[in-house]
Amino acid sequence: MKLTINGEERTLDIDPEMPLLWAIRDELGMTGTKFGCGAAQCGACTVHLDGVPTRSCVTPVSAAEGVAVTTIEGVAGPVAEAVQAAWTELDVPQCGYCQSGQVMSAVALLTENKKPTDEDIDAAMSGNLCRCATYQRIRAGIKSAATKLA
Ligand code: FES
Ligand code: FES
Repeated sequence: MKLTINGEERTLDIDPEMPLLWAIRDELGMTGTKFGCGAAQCGACTVHLDGVPTRSCVTPVSAAEGVAVTTIEGVAGPVAEAVQAAWTELDVPQCGYCQSGQVMSAVALLTENKKPTDEDIDAAMSGNLCRCATYQRIRAGIKSAATKLA
């Protein structure tokens, strides 16, 4: 099957029911996307399918055929740059494990909504858990990125 990942077409000889996360990590060796719960509960595995944040651990790779898959390795553009700069400035990550998923959700939020309220941020980020509890810095990072994008 053919996937378009980070703008590049990749051909994989795999079971279409394989979770997209396994294809990304094990077949393509792109390890920026993390495995956390495997059950759509933690958000560590978040990628974008046509810009929509998606839990790749519960998405069969067949669902990613014909759509643009973006991972943390390929996320780009002004919104991604603003988020990455804010994350660096505010030292958002602690252990870092959840952060690629956090960044993917934050980029999707700010792409849709350049001025998110606290409620918007809570709604968009509630599916991304952080065992280090960096939630305050994540919120501050999103607000800082929003200011840069204004
Ligand atoms: S690993 Fe996919 S949501 Fe936790
Ligand atoms: S920074 Fe450690 S899990 Fe979020």
